[in-house]
Amino acid sequence: MKQGIIIGASSGIGWELAVQLAAKGYQLGLVARRLEKLELLSSSLPGDHFVVQADVSQAEQAQSALSELIETMGNVELIVLNSGVGQQEKKLDWDIEREMIDVNIRGFAALTVVSMNYFRQRGNGHVVGISSVAAHMSGGLAPTYSATKAFVSSYLNGMRSRAEYSKLPITVTTVEPGFVDTPMVQGSPIWTATVEKAVAQLVPAILNKKGHIYITKRWRYVAWLLNLMPKWLMRRLF
Ligand SMILES: NC(=O)c1ccc[n+]([C@@H]2O[C@H](COP(=O)([O-])OP(=O)(O)OC[C@H]3O[C@@H](n4cnc5c(N)ncnc54)[C@H](OP(=O)(O)O)[C@@H]3O)[C@@H](O)[C@H]2O)c1
Repeated sequence: MKQGIIIGASSGIGWELAVQLAAKGYQLGLVARRLEKLELLSSSLPGDHFVVQADVSQAEQAQSALSELIETMGNVELIVLNSGVGQQEKKLDWDIEREMIDVNIRGFAALTVVSMNYFRQRGNGHVVGISSVAAHMSGGLAPTYSATKAFVSSYLNGMRSRAEYSKLPITVTTVEPGFVDTPMVQGSPIWTATVEKAVAQLVPAILNKKGHIYITKRWRYVAWLLNLMPKWLMRRLF
């Protein structure tokens, strides 16, 4: 049986990914802070799964929780690093910024290190990191969120290079969603996809071990435009 771990499985993209991977026969380790949500999810899935409460903002504790879960499960081949927080930053509020930095950067990097080291020692495996199209933006509306996701995308590029140097069959997948209808997104911004549709595009990309994907696919063109956009225009728009 294939085994995978989803960090940030209690809501949104992570929850739906658990539903769609379990339907493909995966046995899952489900991780987040809200234990009752994870238990509800686990009991709704076919098969038996593992549930672990962890706060990614406490990086070293989350590392221990992930290592223990890997050991308990026995043969994990896929780890999805999905936990993330984000919101518009109408005023500069350090508490909000710090949480984004702690979860999206410190926690993300800490768990990537555990995952990469485990797969190196195992000889193969697959790390999937959820970034954002916001990684291609640097504007005043959400400067911290964009910067944290730029870190995620850049860091995963580096990990992909390391996987290549290792000559081991370790895959690193960067996922850059546009807008997906989850509790993180307020209102209905342009091109908001249902979470079912977005994850239905994510699952085959995981199974086919893609290096970099956008969900939904049309956001590739937005990222391309953002990369070409002069800074003065970026400042005016965002
Ligand atoms: N929705 C979008 O439009 C969109 C667009 C681009 C990128 N993304 C990215 O997609 C990922 C999933 O977001 P979503 O839209 O599905 O949002 P969501 O429904 O709010 O889910 C966020 C998940 O992250 C977990 N999480 C947050 N803080 C955590 C912490 N301190 N420790 C452990 N887990 C934590 C949450 O679990 P607990 O609260 O139970 O801990 C939850 O499972 C995020 O990385 C987000 O940045 C989303």
